[in-house]
Amino acid sequence: MTRSIAFASALAALALLSACHAGENKTGRAYAPDMYYSKAYEPYYPSEVTENGMSAILPAENTVAYGSSMEAMDLPPWPFGNVGTADTARIMPAMRAYANPVQPTAEALERGAYNYRVYCGICHGGEMNGKGYLVTGTKYGQAPANLMDDRLIGGASDGWYYHVMQYGLNAMGSYAYAMSREERWEVIHYIRQRQREYLAAQETEQPAEAPADIAPATPADSVAGDAMAAANP
Ligand code: HEC
Repeated sequence: MTRSIAFASALAALALLSACHAGENKTGRAYAPDMYYSKAYEPYYPSEVTENGMSAILPAENTVAYGSSMEAMDLPPWPFGNVGTADTARIMPAMRAYANPVQPTAEALERGAYNYRVYCGICHGGEMNGKGYLVTGTKYGQAPANLMDDRLIGGASDGWYYHVMQYGLNAMGSYAYAMSREERWEVIHYIRQRQREYLAAQETEQPAEAPADIAPATPADSVAGDAMAAANP
């Protein structure tokens, strides 16, 4: 047993040695050398292989560059900065007046739903009640907001939603890296649609005679401002 192991190792050592003939002008033995030592092309060199005659080919027609708009909408960057609490409170009215520039078409809502599932659902949940898998299935420290909360349905403006996606809020990070401007507005359309459905379902559950004791929504913006104060002194 020991002998056969020794023999095998000696063979392996020999095989290794035999691969060591590499010199300045020799690569030695290599499996599929054309994959190890591929030929590098300069991007704009003439090429006989590509259709446009140079080594770098242009993106296929109708390619959408990452981060750019699907509908070729030229949305302006978000004009509000990630400022301290006092300044956030000051710019809230302007943020509130900033209307969602994207049309809530069926396609926009579909993309919004898709991106919500990809980027938000893990925390805010499929029901948007703040009980996503990260909360129910793992140990996640901070409770994500319940997007079906009065404060976030009636109080918070679309602009504030965008602001939160743009810069994050406390434990929630920014999602500006992940979605184009247009896609972020589409997510807001989708959340608004789900909130309307949620309210409609509640109304059917409790017929008209039920007391209308739902307090007028506090502007979410100001409450969130307080939360921000804690994190960004
Ligand atoms: C990693 C978990 C996580 C993900 C993913 C996440 N959030 Fe949040 N979100 C949070 C937490 C935690 C808070 C509560 C922050 C606070 O109030 O301090 C929050 C708060 C919010 C709020 C409420 C702000 C307020 O006024 O209280 C909104 C709106 C929101 N998120 C939207 C989104 C959207 C839209 C997405 C997807 C693009 C998203 N979130 C993805 C964790 C997450």
